[in-house]
Amino acid sequence: MKSYLAIPTIKKTQSILQEKQKEAFLRSIEYKTVAEWLRFSEELYDTEPIAESVSYNDWNAPYCFHALCPKYLKAVRRLGCRSFRKGQVAMLTVAGGLGTRLGFNGPKGLVPVTPVKHKTLFQVFAEKLKALQQIYGRPIHWLVMTSEETDTDTRKAFREHNWYDLNYVHFFKQGVVPAFTEEGSCVIREDGSVHYYPDGHGGVFKALERNGLLKALKGWGIKYISYFQVDNPLVRLDDPQFLGFHIYKKSEFSTKVVEKVSPEEKVGVFVNVNGSLRLVEYSEMPEALTRQQDKAGYLAFRWGNTAIHLLNLDFVERCARLDLPYHKAHKKVQNWCPEQDKMQTEIGIKWEQFIFDALPYAKNPLLYEVERCEEFSPVKNASGSDSLETCMRDQVLRWKRWFKKVKISVDIPLDFFNNSHVEVSSLFADSLDVFLKKVKRLKLTQGFFEKLYLE
Ligand code: UTP
Repeated sequence: MKSYLAIPTIKKTQSILQEKQKEAFLRSIEYKTVAEWLRFSEELYDTEPIAESVSYNDWNAPYCFHALCPKYLKAVRRLGCRSFRKGQVAMLTVAGGLGTRLGFNGPKGLVPVTPVKHKTLFQVFAEKLKALQQIYGRPIHWLVMTSEETDTDTRKAFREHNWYDLNYVHFFKQGVVPAFTEEGSCVIREDGSVHYYPDGHGGVFKALERNGLLKALKGWGIKYISYFQVDNPLVRLDDPQFLGFHIYKKSEFSTKVVEKVSPEEKVGVFVNVNGSLRLVEYSEMPEALTRQQDKAGYLAFRWGNTAIHLLNLDFVERCARLDLPYHKAHKKVQNWCPEQDKMQTEIGIKWEQFIFDALPYAKNPLLYEVERCEEFSPVKNASGSDSLETCMRDQVLRWKRWFKKVKISVDIPLDFFNNSHVEVSSLFADSLDVFLKKVKRLKLTQGFFEKLYLE
C-alpha cells in the first residue's frame, strides 16, 4: 500500500477525499498494480499525441480486386468458402463502448436500427450469423465483448429475445482503466472508490486471453476472427472473397477500407510510417495532413477505416502478450465534486487502447477496398453525419438499389425515420449477389410497391 501512496495522482486524490471515503478509495486502487498506476500518472503530463511524433507518407492503394480476372477471383472466393465450411471462422463484436456521442440509455447494441421492423443492432447481426450458418451448414461461434457498463443489459437482452443460440454466444468483459481530472486527481464515485472506465477496443486481446477464450477458440478449430463494431448494421459478414484474399495473401490483419468523403470526415486513416502500415485515429491526425493531396489531386490520406477486420488467431495470441499504448482523450466523465459533495459531469482525461495499434506487429497486413454504400454506415452521433437517421437512409437506399436491379421500385418516403417502407432481412440476403439469386425465385412482379419486407 505504501508504494501506491507515493504515486502523485493517488496522493492528490487522497488529499481531497472526505474521511468516510478514504477506505473505499484505498480498496479500489488495488484493482490495478503499482506499475499500472505509475504508467498512467507519468503519461498524464506527456501531452504530445502519438501521431505527431511520426512522419507520414502516402500508403499505397488498397488491394483493388475489381481489376482482377474473374478466374482468379473465383479461386480466391473458393478459398474463403472452404474455410467457412470447415468452421475456421468465429465472429467477434466489440460492444463495450459507452456510446456517449449517441446518448442512448443502455448498450448501443440495443438501439433499434432497421426502418420497418425496428430490429436492434444485435438482432441484425444475429440474423447475419444465422444466414451464414444456413449457407455453410454449421454453427458459428459469436464472441461479444462487453464492459462493466454494458454487460448485464446485453446478456439480459440476448436471454429475453432469443436472437441467437446462446450455446454459441460467448460474452466476455473488457478491462478497465482509471480516468483523471484535468488537475491530475483520480475520477471517483460518491463513496470514494475509483471510477474505472472501459480500456478501449484494443483491450480485446487481453480480455480474450483473461476469459479463457483464446484456448477455447483453438479447441473449436478456429483460425480466423472476423471482427466488427457494434454500430454498423451494413457490415457484410458473408464475404468469402475478403476471407479468401486474407488467406491467399498470408495476411495476419486485414481491413476493409472506404475512400474518405471529405478531409473532415471523422474516420481513422491508414498511413505508411517508415514502410510499416499504421492507422491514425481522426482525433489524432494533424489537420494539415487531412487536407494534403497527392500528385493526382486525391487526398493523400484517403483510406478510411471501417473497423471491419480479419485477424489470425495466432496473431491475436501474440497481441495478448503486447502492451499496446494508451491514447489520451478529453471526454465527459462522472466525477464526485468535493466542493458540492455530489456527482457531476465534467471533462476529464480518459485512456483507451486501439486495436489497430497491433497493426505494425502483423505480417502482410492487407487493405481491401469496399463500396461504402454497400457495407459501411455506422451509428455514432445523435444527429447529423453518422447518426441513426443517416444509417437508416443508407440501409433503405441499399435495398432500393437492389430492387432496382430487378426493375422493382419501392416507394421511399422522405421521412426515413417514421415512415419507411422497405426492409430486407439478412436471413433473405445480405449482399446483392444473394439477393439477385433469391429474388428471381420469388417471382415478384416487376413494377411499383408501396411496402416490401423480405425475410
Ligand atoms: P467508438 O469509440 O466509436 O464508440 O467505438 P463508443 O466508445 O461506444 O462511443 P463514444 O465515443 O463514447 O461516443 C467503436 C467500437 O468499439 C467499441 C464500441 O462499442 C464500438 O463498437 N468499444 C469502444 C469497446 O468495445 N470498448 C471500448 O472501451 C471502446
